[in-house]
Amino acid sequence: MLSRPRRNRKTEAIRRLVRETELKPSHLIYPFFTLNGTGREEPISSLPGISRLSTDLILKEIEICLKNGLNAFVLFPAVEERLKDNVASYSYADDNFYLHQIRNIKERFPEACLMSDVAMDPYSSDGHDGLVIDGEIVNDPTLPILSRMAVAQAQAGIDIVGPSDMMDGRVEAIRNALDDSGYEKVSIMSYTAKYASAYYGPFREALESAPKSGDKKSYQMDPANKWEALREAELDALEGADMLMVKPALCYLDIIHILKEHSELPIAAYNVSGEYAMLKAAAANGWLNYELAMPEMLLSIRRAGADVILSYFAKEYAIWHSSTR
Ligand code: PBG
Repeated sequence: MLSRPRRNRKTEAIRRLVRETELKPSHLIYPFFTLNGTGREEPISSLPGISRLSTDLILKEIEICLKNGLNAFVLFPAVEERLKDNVASYSYADDNFYLHQIRNIKERFPEACLMSDVAMDPYSSDGHDGLVIDGEIVNDPTLPILSRMAVAQAQAGIDIVGPSDMMDGRVEAIRNALDDSGYEKVSIMSYTAKYASAYYGPFREALESAPKSGDKKSYQMDPANKWEALREAELDALEGADMLMVKPALCYLDIIHILKEHSELPIAAYNVSGEYAMLKAAAANGWLNYELAMPEMLLSIRRAGADVILSYFAKEYAIWHSSTR
């Protein structure tokens, strides 16, 4: 036998020499669900280990993350029902607590990279990402609302805005609005191939943001479609996106792969709430070895082609990674 692949696997030192994929904490983005007020922590039952947190508690978490090499965070606001309306006006209101949180976090940790969510759903009384008129999610009238939201976030000091709404033309609209307001340095990570997925369930529980009627299939992508993701990627690149995201990650590793092959932009993947919940549930039942399964899951997303991974596992991974060096 001339060729014996096992020779390259015989010791840990050799395995490390020939390892093709590496995932560092610096490749990860850690999501926070944010609350108004101080000293507030509300655990989310379907996301064990993840809570809605007020700014003071988020700052403590960020400090731990930074010490472990995890530098990037995405913030999702949990907005009280009474502040929601059909045009999501609270999203750009001066007293919006989310905008204050962005400011406070950037003041305390200017070195941290902060990303926002741009979509109407956390602020919308309809629970949809776009404007609802006569039961229809209308595209073009949604764009100025998203643009205004993005500019407000830029004003607060956000590094990256993340349009997650899947309206057509929103990247261009947001890019123009940011540039016109003097925020040409604010980046856009577009949710490029965002599928109409059942795996967002725990997230919608966390924000109480589920649609009040209907579903999101007229704007989020059909899970059956692959080539359509390339079309979305081309458009987002032309419209000025800085990074392209695929979401969810695990059922869509093939999409991550083709976007990586076809685009020169950095590719991100969102390891969503339902993917986290599945693994946590199996681990809690003793059905899987969590310590091994968690890094394997994240590594598979990176190996598929993701440069960046958004994941609720990020903090645990960073701590685990520091301990294995
Ligand atoms: C909303 C948004 C969603 C997620 C991120 N931004 C949910 C949705 O589209 O209904 C899901 C993230 C997750 O499940 O972890 N614009």
